[in-house]
Amino acid sequence: MEDIKCEIGMIGLGVMGRNLVLNFADHGFSVAGFDKDKSKVDQLEKEAGNRKIFGSDVLLDFINLLRIPRAVMMLVPAGPPVDSIIEELIPILNQNDLIIDGGNSHFTDTNKRLKELSLKNIHFLGIGISGGENGARFGPSFMSGGVESAYERIRPLLEAASAKVNGENCVTYLGSGSAGHYVKMVHNGIEYALMQVISESYDLLKRGLGLNNDRLHKIYNEWNKKQLKSFLIEISAEIFLQKDHEPGGFLIDKILDEAKQKGTGKWTSQDAMEIQIPVPTIDAAVSMRDISAYKSEREQASKILYGPEYKIEEENEPFIRQVENSLYFAVITIYAQGMAMLKTASVEYKYNLNLKDIAKIWRGGCIIRAAVLEDICSAFEKNPDLVNILVDSFLSKEALNRQDDLRAIIKTAVECGIPVPGLASSLAYFDSYRSGWLPANLVQAQRDYFGAHTYERIDEKGIFHTQWNHI
Ligand code: 6PG
Repeated sequence: MEDIKCEIGMIGLGVMGRNLVLNFADHGFSVAGFDKDKSKVDQLEKEAGNRKIFGSDVLLDFINLLRIPRAVMMLVPAGPPVDSIIEELIPILNQNDLIIDGGNSHFTDTNKRLKELSLKNIHFLGIGISGGENGARFGPSFMSGGVESAYERIRPLLEAASAKVNGENCVTYLGSGSAGHYVKMVHNGIEYALMQVISESYDLLKRGLGLNNDRLHKIYNEWNKKQLKSFLIEISAEIFLQKDHEPGGFLIDKILDEAKQKGTGKWTSQDAMEIQIPVPTIDAAVSMRDISAYKSEREQASKILYGPEYKIEEENEPFIRQVENSLYFAVITIYAQGMAMLKTASVEYKYNLNLKDIAKIWRGGCIIRAAVLEDICSAFEKNPDLVNILVDSFLSKEALNRQDDLRAIIKTAVECGIPVPGLASSLAYFDSYRSGWLPANLVQAQRDYFGAHTYERIDEKGIFHTQWNHI
């Protein structure tokens, strides 16, 4: 080891950190790993084989393993752990060293850390990493933001370790400041919404049509060969097949219907409100995770509140096709919401994002990778200033051709009492967006009536107030 100085160091050797270390090392880079937990360092060293990997559970020793100027990546839980590691690093790093936060940090924290570290001449990058354990090990999507020259320093490592689609790397420099973590946050908002509408399709087919897991597996598997092809549909198909340890049972039927969350979906909704961009399907997904957590209250309520029975009286095959088309329609509107949010955030936060590049690096490695991202790339290729992918010539037709199926599905779901807030809000987004007129004139009149908030007219320029007929 004496003469090897590592090109990158990793702090946090949980499964993501360890897998990323192995991934970098597989591409010939020398990597140092640090964790306070000695057993994690031991595990890394055991898996290292003859790769150039060196571990330590002493921070200073780890830092001394690194080539100067140093590059240190952290993969630790977002929030206070990131700050406490930075605090420990500051006294032992030199000027021009680079810290990379590869976790799901809130973008405002990233801005704050960037500012503080730049005062000390320590570089900082916020990089969102998507793809879970497997992605980290064999090729994730990296969403990188910060100072471009700092990104350039580690670009070869990220490019080598990233997922590839048609020979193109699923990593690029996205923009200044917290751009990387912001894009990752919106990625996760999209992830929540996609998971929600897929779950609704499952509900319609399971409780509605009464299909069994074998059948569900086959259906999602078929869907994954066509326009819905995506990582989340693929894993859903596999999930339906997984047997429980009880003979004959399926694991999916034993899993508690309470969805947990670490907060990135909620952050997306919160910031969408902040910058006033509608993301109703993401909001619905967050709300549904929240409702799911009220398990015992729901069970109590189910004894008092009744509705229609769940049976769907439709021919199976045409209904399944309608669900497939509805799901695809919803998927398009979900990416539309996410992309529209990024477009506005780019201006608001001066990120200077390139939406085509983002769609490109999402095509592989990450959780929301999907065939439709090729079409989204083409849409931004044709028109980099596209305001919303719903008005792209190709994607608009894809949605328009499927709207009748979604309307029918929502009608059936309502009649059967199956909640489909994700699908319904996707349709409502579409219907509102395509409406040249909305009833907001009445909202304005009400505001002026009770609060003299004024209104504008369609036939005359200016700001108006009326003395309404108060009783
Ligand atoms: C990814 C994921 C990942 C996220 C999990 C869990 O892109 O690899 O988005 O970053 O942590 O999906 O998120 P929730 O606990 O909020 O569902």
